[in-house]
Amino acid sequence: MRYLVVPSQETEIWKEYLDSKEWLERKYSIEIEGEKRAIPLSELFPLNLPTNLSEFEIIEKNAPEISPNDYLGHLKKEIGDVNYNKFKRFWPQSFDLIGELVIVKIEKEVEKFTKEISHSMISHNKRVSRVFRDLGVHGNFRVRKLELIGGSKNLGGATKVKENGVEFNVDPTKGYYSPRLATERLDTLECAIYLKTKLERKLNICDPYAGFGPALMPLIKEKGLVNYILANDLNPEVTTILEENLITNNKENVAIEIKCKDARKLIENPKNIGLFDLLLVNLPHSTIEHLPLLVGLLNNNSTAILRAWSIIDSEKIKQMEDDIKKLFDSLKYPISNIIVEPTRSYSPTQVYTKIEIWTNESS
Ligand SMILES: C[S@@+](CC[C@H](N)C(=O)[O-])C[C@H]1O[C@@H](n2cnc3c(N)ncnc32)[C@H](O)[C@@H]1O
Repeated sequence: MRYLVVPSQETEIWKEYLDSKEWLERKYSIEIEGEKRAIPLSELFPLNLPTNLSEFEIIEKNAPEISPNDYLGHLKKEIGDVNYNKFKRFWPQSFDLIGELVIVKIEKEVEKFTKEISHSMISHNKRVSRVFRDLGVHGNFRVRKLELIGGSKNLGGATKVKENGVEFNVDPTKGYYSPRLATERLDTLECAIYLKTKLERKLNICDPYAGFGPALMPLIKEKGLVNYILANDLNPEVTTILEENLITNNKENVAIEIKCKDARKLIENPKNIGLFDLLLVNLPHSTIEHLPLLVGLLNNNSTAILRAWSIIDSEKIKQMEDDIKKLFDSLKYPISNIIVEPTRSYSPTQVYTKIEIWTNESS
């Protein structure tokens, strides 16, 4: 490993200069060399000392063996500095870590390094057993098309995740799951605990688009919170896992029913009308469209809460709030509080929005 030896008081100046030329080897630290400092040089540093550095000495030293602190460091080690720097703009900077899985989008420009990218991700995180390339969301069930690019084929896409202190199974090759909504689910738990205290009884909860059940897991785990859960999802591959998750985590012996039907048909069962104290609606592209056939599931005799999530044009948020108010009014549910809050951007024009509605709060 080559090092440039500079006066110690000039270390920062030369370090910055080398970095600006991509001549600084970031994997290693600066070493003490007598009264001076030795700055590690990358493979891109010229073989002949550039004239503006000719007053300094180059030395060869064994660099200490250190492990890179991110997957990009492993990748750089694997493909070499030249290739790494050539495609620097295109390396995936973010990815989803779901249990033992990594799900990553890979740009066309670096497709030929797919194997090296997945290998670096597995080398960096020993927990990761499979890496999937994300080819986008498809179909009504919003399932990601995933291509296995690293790890064992035999394991499929199933993995165990731990969220808000609860473990459950997911399989992103079969259904939708995003760890990014974990804090929203914690807010749902807080809401439910508050509602239970207010009503002084256990709650009936309906999640018509339950997926693998991430929102329901912390609710059934909470002592004395839930009386009855109706969990539904139209995707049969998802409901099989949802059922396992609910049964495994049902330490409180909550009454649970699992359905696999179009959520808009739940209201056709007279038993479901007005039954639920808490209703979750997470079908962000169609939430508003489906809402008219879901509101009737809410209990209208005491305080009830709807928590929903929607993707909407940022210019139409006020319009959406007005439409929701009109809908509740027409169904004779008195709104006592409504929160419509954009939480993050989804596209240049659309925002991901949280909707929370409290009805009959004075009761
Ligand atoms: C955005 S995901 C939400 C899943 C889960 N609630 C979560 O937060 O991870 C929407 C779910 O709704 C299901 N779905 C789509 N259309 C449906 C419908 N008409 N009725 C019931 N479920 C539906 C999909 O299969 C998917 O699992």
